[in-house]
Amino acid sequence: MEVVICPDEEQVGAVAADRVITQIAGKHTPVLGLATGTSPLNLYAELQRRSAAGDVDFSHALGFALDEYVGLDPQHPLSYRQTIDRTVVKPLGMTPERVRVPNGFAADLEAAANEFEDAIVEAGGVDVQILGIGSNGHIGFNEPTSSFSSRTRVKTLTQQTRDDNARFFDDDETVPTHCVSQGLGTIMDARNLVMVASGEKKADVVAAMIEGPVTAMCPASLLQFHRRAFVIIDEAAASKLQYAEYFRHVASHQPA
Ligand code: F6R
Repeated sequence: MEVVICPDEEQVGAVAADRVITQIAGKHTPVLGLATGTSPLNLYAELQRRSAAGDVDFSHALGFALDEYVGLDPQHPLSYRQTIDRTVVKPLGMTPERVRVPNGFAADLEAAANEFEDAIVEAGGVDVQILGIGSNGHIGFNEPTSSFSSRTRVKTLTQQTRDDNARFFDDDETVPTHCVSQGLGTIMDARNLVMVASGEKKADVVAAMIEGPVTAMCPASLLQFHRRAFVIIDEAAASKLQYAEYFRHVASHQPA
């Protein structure tokens, strides 16, 4: 795992955007794994700037979102379909039909989840998966105790996740109870992982992910097993790391 500590969350976005662009350089049809939530917003804003500057072109890119709520119409403004369209597809100039979001509104959720998995395989796999981390260590909506080999499927949200996401809804009762999420196995198949986190609230879980044991109780700790996992965090999110000095040293002493 490569850990980069940045002075602030804007820098997290800039460094993460660099990583994403480097990892898809030269590809006519890059395949992006897309996270929703607050953490990657600076990263998407920077990708938008870089695309407007002509550094990168996402019009041929394919996209696969991590997750979706069950039971929300894809037209609902808080569905992840709409969120991804608003915060990623439009700003980056991606083609909406080339971006898939798991279907949480299908009559047969399991069949829809399997189709989603097949579409990733047909696309040749994900080049770079963008990730945030939940306060309980989830990635996607793989809540603690999720299987390390799980694939896209229906999951039940924990109360902690529903509380965390209540900020997006007018009334706590309307936060959905279930979701369809890429599995941990699905996420681990991506060729590159770019995880972004910022703020003191994430400090404990970031330390558990990077320095703790690999355990289903902190699903993000599975990133320790990925060959190309880049974790980009700000000082506040790094504040509980024992090895923060080491990570700073590594970043500023790269071999020539
Ligand atoms: C979003 C997702 C989640 C979030 C995580 C952090 O698609 O899969 O794992 O990345 O809950 O959310 P924020 O960034 O809002 O703190």
